[in-house]
Amino acid sequence: MENLVIAIDGPAGAGKSTISKLIAKNLGINYIDTGAMYRAITYKCLKSGIDINDRQKVVDLCSRTEVDFVDNSIYLDGVRLGEEIRTLEVSSKVSDVAKIPQVREFLLEKQREIGKRSDVILDGRDVGTHIFPDTKYKFFLNASAQERGRRRYQELVDKGQTVVLEDIIEDIKKRDYIDSTREVAPLVKADDAIEVDSTSMTIDQVVTYISDMVRRIGE
Ligand code: CDP
Ligand code: CDP
Repeated sequence: MENLVIAIDGPAGAGKSTISKLIAKNLGINYIDTGAMYRAITYKCLKSGIDINDRQKVVDLCSRTEVDFVDNSIYLDGVRLGEEIRTLEVSSKVSDVAKIPQVREFLLEKQREIGKRSDVILDGRDVGTHIFPDTKYKFFLNASAQERGRRRYQELVDKGQTVVLEDIIEDIKKRDYIDSTREVAPLVKADDAIEVDSTSMTIDQVVTYISDMVRRIGE
């Protein structure tokens, strides 16, 4: 029997990772945060002093980099990463790294390989359109940019970071633009994905809705 693959795509701050983690826990399946893999590459570039506009250097860096996702955690060259990949500095650069075709190719292969290991829920921008286009469990989670900015701001403040709401909304809008206009695997709803607007939904409501739909699709 084929593994269960649930794809959750959508823009920043829509609630993809929060919802995916909860569904993974409820169903007892693995969770893969594909965005964390792009963040890990970006983080390594910044740490190594590589100018992300120098595409060749970024591509070369990929060729000497190991990225993996084990037990719901991201590993970069064998080291588990945490909050260091969630800073505004990484966020503001990650979409420029993610638009480099060779970087996408490198991570796509890895994402498919990890995704095939077991039943899994993946969140990102191109899970339903490119990584696992054949899965029948596809969702596009969305919310207004204002609400997504507010959520992300609150999250960073709760973690003790000093941030300005307008900067967060601007970063989100800028990333939405770069992500949805890039040439390779842009952020777009797959034709057969179910769209969920979570602007005025609670986390529980979204989890219940998507879980019900997964059950129905599987019947
Ligand atoms: O958590 P947040 O929604 O802020 O972003 P993320 O899921 O961590 O993804 C960070 C960035 O990685 C996105 O803005 C995209 O540029 C890129 N990404 C991508 O291109 N394709 C994916 N499947 C996942 C993320
Ligand atoms: O992964 P993505 O960038 O799509 O979103 P996230 O990292 O899950 O962040 C969304 C933030 O909004 C989290 O702090 C959630 O607690 C909160 N939130 C949500 O995800 N969904 C709602 N319906 C309401 C709030």
